[in-house]
Amino acid sequence: MTDNLKPLSTATLTLEDKSYSLPTLMGVEGEKSIDISKLRAQTGYITLDEGYGNTGACESSITYIDGEKGILRYRGYPIEELAEHSRFTEVAYLLLHGELPTVDQLNLFSKRLNESSIIHEDMHHFFNGFPRGSHPMGILATMVASLSTFYPVPDVLDEATEIQIVANLVSQVRTIAAFSYKKSIGEPLVYPSIKYRYVRNFLNMMFSSPVRDYQLDDDIVRAIDMFLILHADHEQNCSTSSVRTAGSSMANVYAVTSAGISALWGPRHGGANQEVIQMLEQIHAEGGDGTEFINQAKDKNSGRRLMGFGHRVYKNFDPRAKVLKKQCDKLLNKPGMNDPLLEIAMRLEEIALKDDYFISRKLYPNVDFYSGLILRAAGIPTNMFTVLFAIGRMPGWLAHWREMLHGKQVTITRPRQMYVGETERHFVDIENR
Ligand code: CMC
Repeated sequence: MTDNLKPLSTATLTLEDKSYSLPTLMGVEGEKSIDISKLRAQTGYITLDEGYGNTGACESSITYIDGEKGILRYRGYPIEELAEHSRFTEVAYLLLHGELPTVDQLNLFSKRLNESSIIHEDMHHFFNGFPRGSHPMGILATMVASLSTFYPVPDVLDEATEIQIVANLVSQVRTIAAFSYKKSIGEPLVYPSIKYRYVRNFLNMMFSSPVRDYQLDDDIVRAIDMFLILHADHEQNCSTSSVRTAGSSMANVYAVTSAGISALWGPRHGGANQEVIQMLEQIHAEGGDGTEFINQAKDKNSGRRLMGFGHRVYKNFDPRAKVLKKQCDKLLNKPGMNDPLLEIAMRLEEIALKDDYFISRKLYPNVDFYSGLILRAAGIPTNMFTVLFAIGRMPGWLAHWREMLHGKQVTITRPRQMYVGETERHFVDIENR
């Protein structure tokens, strides 16, 4: 426990006529918790909390969320201010180091990212081994894990090596992402260039070719930069918890972040941005106003959900969705940028927000609802959407990994369970079964 957690008082728990005192604690934003770390040793009981909706798994000073009030802050800075005034590499530095960089610090960080952007030439062959049509998230998770074989992590990490590994991952995830896209469309790989900053470099690797210069549009570069900022961290979400869990075994950081990528892939997490666009395309193709889809999403037997709606933490609104909706509106109102899916998305939101099903369950648009429209406007193919989320989230994962590594001690993540299987029985020879 650090000094930032203030002891409050004690909670009294009565179990089988015996009372136990449990310490209660308060975080810097007034969040309260009951320390149950000695509960089992003292009482023989464990707590049961499927999905950990009520469990604080660690102390962290990276990101603060108040889901009821729709607040999201990185290192204390409101997400709205960062999205408006900052750029992604600056936010990455903030997450990783705890403070906004000075000009010199940011220049050095950017230089390091640029110099780390090339992946080992021998890794290029790997891209040929994946079947055509492979999902780029599968390629990304594999390639990020395989970085550990080209850039082995020493058992004992000094500060300089750790900083370099972090730069490798923040920078190379973008190179790998662009290479996997180029391979999927059968075009030659475009190397990163010292000429460009982070986002321009990525878009150039994605869309230029030896026979076609890619015209970088400033508004698109800005929109993608903002997308990455908004996705850069989100405290103990599914993929970050996976990173912390894998990291707690002291596995190497490439394997650890690959675990994060795999967890992010699922449609209830980062994979939702791809599903939102597929949903909007389907509604557009069928020509309805979305009511039919909403009715299906309300029907538990349909197996459908309104993608891009609902959040485990935000029970009012997702502040990232507000910023993205505004940005989306701005971008798609530019001449030649119109997208009929924006109108469908806005209509769906309007219908859902008036519907008692969504109101009573506090389901609001989340970050994924509008983000796909921005990526579409930038020409990013739908199956790359979650990859873009992963590029954005990489600094967050690494900030959590570093925080864990430099904490008082790394405790391996190992939850308990309530066993509900067979009680003891004895082996029966195969002929007697
Ligand atoms: N459409 C229809 N019903 C929903 C939806 C939805 N999008 N989301 C939740 N519900 C219902 C759910 O069926 C349940 O109803 P009931 O109480 O009658 O059983 C209730 O709302 C609570 O749902 P839950 O699944 O218990 O809530 P959760 O906090 O465990 O799940 C969620 C959060 C994000 C997984 C869920 O809202 C969802 O599946 N949304 C759609 C997928 C999506 O957009 N995911 C992106 C999340 S934001 C980006 C990120 O962090 O990855």
